[in-house]
Amino acid sequence: MLVQIGKCRLQLVQGDITQQQVDAVVNAANAQLAGGGGVDGAIHRAGGPDIMRDTDARYPDGCFPGEAVASVAGLLPAAHLIHTVGPVWRGGRDGEPAALASCYRKSLQLTVDLGCKSVAFPAISTGVYGYPLDLAANVALKSVIDFLKWHKQPDDVRFILFGEGAFGAFARSLEIQVA
Ligand code: APR
Repeated sequence: MLVQIGKCRLQLVQGDITQQQVDAVVNAANAQLAGGGGVDGAIHRAGGPDIMRDTDARYPDGCFPGEAVASVAGLLPAAHLIHTVGPVWRGGRDGEPAALASCYRKSLQLTVDLGCKSVAFPAISTGVYGYPLDLAANVALKSVIDFLKWHKQPDDVRFILFGEGAFGAFARSLEIQVA
C-alpha cells in the first residue's frame, strides 16, 4: 500500500526489514542497546558484530525510551542503522503514546540529519513490549504523516510489517488517516 504525502511516499510492505535496500533502517532496541529477540535479534544477526561494536563504543549508557541513536549498519543493505527504544505497554496511561510517537519523530529527524532519503521502520513496541497493534499503528502513522507534512522529507518512508496481522492493522489505520 502506497500513499503520497506531498512529494513524499509512505509505503506499507509485508516482509523482513533486514532485506530492505534503504538509506536507513530503524531498529526496535532496548534501553541497554544490548541486542535481544524480535526485529533487534534479526538485525544483529543479519548485520553482524560491527553494529554492536559501534553502539558499545558510542553509546555505553544506552538510549532512553522515546530517543534514537545512529550506528553503522554492518552487513545490512543500508547505509545507516537507527536504534530507537519504544515504550513497554502498561495499559496506555503511562505515557506510552507520547513515547512511541517520539520514537518515530526522533528517528525521522536523525534520518534527515544524516542526509538519508529513504528509511524503513518496523512496528516499534508491538512485539515483546506488548503495544496493541491497532493502537500502535494509529500513533506510528500519525507521527510519520505529521513529520512528512511539516518537514517534507525524507522522500521515502516504509513500514516493514512482519506478518498479515501487523500489515492489516497498519493498512486499516492508514486508510482512515488519509481518507
Ligand atoms: N522485520 C520486520 N519486523 C519484524 C522482524 C523483521 N525481521 N522481526 C520481528 N518483527 C516485528 C514483530 O513482529 C513486531 O511486530 O517487529 C515488531 C516489534 O517487535 P519486537 O522486535 O519484539 O520489538 P518491541 O516490541 O519494540 O520490543 C523490543 O524486544 O528483543 C527485544 O531487544 C529488543 O528488548 C527489546 C524488545
